[in-house]
Amino acid sequence: MNISFENQVALVTGAASGMGLATARAFAEAGAKVVLADYREDVVQAEAEKLLREGRQAMAVGCDVSDESQIEAMVDRVVAQFGRLDVAFNNAGVMAKIAPIAESQTDEWERVIGINLRGVWSGMKYELRQMEKQGSGAIVNNASVGAITGNPGIASYIASKHGVVGLTRTAALEYISKGIRVNAVNPGLIDTQIARDVVSGDEKAYDDFAKRVPIGRAGTPEEIASAVLWLSSSAASYVVGQAITVDGGMTVG
Ligand SMILES: NC(=O)c1ccc[n+]([C@@H]2O[C@H](COP(=O)([O-])OP(=O)(O)OC[C@H]3O[C@@H](n4cnc5c(N)ncnc54)[C@H](O)[C@@H]3O)[C@@H](O)[C@H]2O)c1
Repeated sequence: MNISFENQVALVTGAASGMGLATARAFAEAGAKVVLADYREDVVQAEAEKLLREGRQAMAVGCDVSDESQIEAMVDRVVAQFGRLDVAFNNAGVMAKIAPIAESQTDEWERVIGINLRGVWSGMKYELRQMEKQGSGAIVNNASVGAITGNPGIASYIASKHGVVGLTRTAALEYISKGIRVNAVNPGLIDTQIARDVVSGDEKAYDDFAKRVPIGRAGTPEEIASAVLWLSSSAASYVVGQAITVDGGMTVG
């Protein structure tokens, strides 16, 4: 099984923390030249410098994924610096403010959809243009178990994640003949800021929620990074348009 990314360029959005940071580090450790993108530019700059000090190859880019012009500039910078783009993990995302639909605000809908759904669409748009020129590439989008079921109070988040899987399947069919594989991951409860936001920082509610996952705990960002690296690698060469659920058994009962 080949999961080395030697001589490959990997881009990760939302790389300042959580799954994005863990995945960027995993790509770098597997030999990739890694690009850490996030709207928190100072944080990704510090993380890229840390990787460089560890002898890895890394670059930071400031990018708000809800702004298409910043996405275009991000992909341009990757290609200017490293000459190509082999792998992209479109991971940046936010949780919705909890409210039932009738009490929800339109600007909150626009914020969540703009980052979680349009951000993935415009990310793929510019990544695919570059990969098409190369005739190769692999994209993984970060969806959620919220792409499988509904969840009261976070309709915009759930709609965005269902949409990410639809985009993934469509892009996969559009680009597989050009040598580009597109897939998604559906993480369950993973121990990051977003998961804590769902329970509004209530540690007891978070612990109870984690214990109710069949495996008995929340997942780690590194457990999602493993799935993303496999999906991005030649070891998954026949996996096309799938949303792979990594959730400790949360959705199987
Ligand atoms: N934690 C979970 O339980 C869980 C479960 C399923 C899916 N997810 C998804 O995983 C992804 C990563 O989230 P996480 O759990 O690692 O949380 P996180 O908050 O640690 O990471 C999200 C990252 O996205 C960045 N980001 C937010 N808005 C952005 C924007 N407009 N432009 C660029 N970057 C932006 C943040 O700065 C942060 O670095 C998200 O798409 C989230 O919806 C999380």
